[in-house]
Amino acid sequence: MLRTAASIGNTIDTRLAALQGYPIDLYQIHHPYGGFSSIPAQVRAMAQLAKDSRIRSIGVSNFSAAQMEQASAVLATYGLTLASNQVKINALHRNIETNGVLAAANRLGVTLIAYTPLESGILTGRFHDDPQAVESLTRVRRIAGGFAKKVTQATPLVDELRAVAKAHDVSLSQVALSWLVTYYDDTVVAIPGASKPHQATQAAAAMSVQLSATERAGIADASRRSGAL
Ligand SMILES: NC(=O)c1ccc[n+]([C@@H]2O[C@H](COP(=O)([O-])OP(=O)(O)OC[C@H]3O[C@@H](n4cnc5c(N)ncnc54)[C@H](OP(=O)(O)O)[C@@H]3O)[C@@H](O)[C@H]2O)c1
Repeated sequence: MLRTAASIGNTIDTRLAALQGYPIDLYQIHHPYGGFSSIPAQVRAMAQLAKDSRIRSIGVSNFSAAQMEQASAVLATYGLTLASNQVKINALHRNIETNGVLAAANRLGVTLIAYTPLESGILTGRFHDDPQAVESLTRVRRIAGGFAKKVTQATPLVDELRAVAKAHDVSLSQVALSWLVTYYDDTVVAIPGASKPHQATQAAAAMSVQLSATERAGIADASRRSGAL
């Protein structure tokens, strides 16, 4: 945040040194309005890093469809492509289907990296199992996104996730993640958060949950009933 395009090139050595030889496969611009420079200027600075083999691929985050197009056009002048756009996507939040981001990703060959894929834990069902648990969240998490309201809104979806989870003998979080990374074919990958080891273990194991087309459609329907679209 609060960077200029020049700081992208100026700070890369420090970042590479911190990684002690581990390569930067994907380097992302966190937010289109996170710096003092224009999007083209920031993307040109990223392109130079790729051209100099300091990073392997270039991504962005929270970019709109038009901003993805703009970034892709700048990269094309370097013979490069935009690898990814990290945006909020989950079964309760499907804006990408209506705001043009999904269409742009498919058109440009950009992978969408879904952040907050469990809607901050709501899609795990734990706040439906124990409504009092909302009170124990930090004030920021509880109030910022209208958390309690979202829990109520998610009820039809969580009920559906619960039924599918029971049929597969897996957790709701695994069903929610499996749905997310298969519903949009190969366009969406997810970066679930975890504050406890078992949450990370469960998230990794979601990759082996195989939902049927009927189950995927049932979750999509329930997600609409929960107001995701
Ligand atoms: N690019 C951006 O602008 C942006 C914005 C937001 C987030 N992100 C990134 O997105 C990633 C994930 O987002 P997120 O953490 O906000 O959202 P998330 O994946 O939707 O929610 C993660 C939270 O859900 C709960 N959880 C996870 N697995 C669970 C399980 N099996 N059972 C019960 N609860 C479970 C945990 O809550 P508890 O900790 O309360 O147990 C965990 O912290 C992070 O890497 C974050 O940095 C990026």
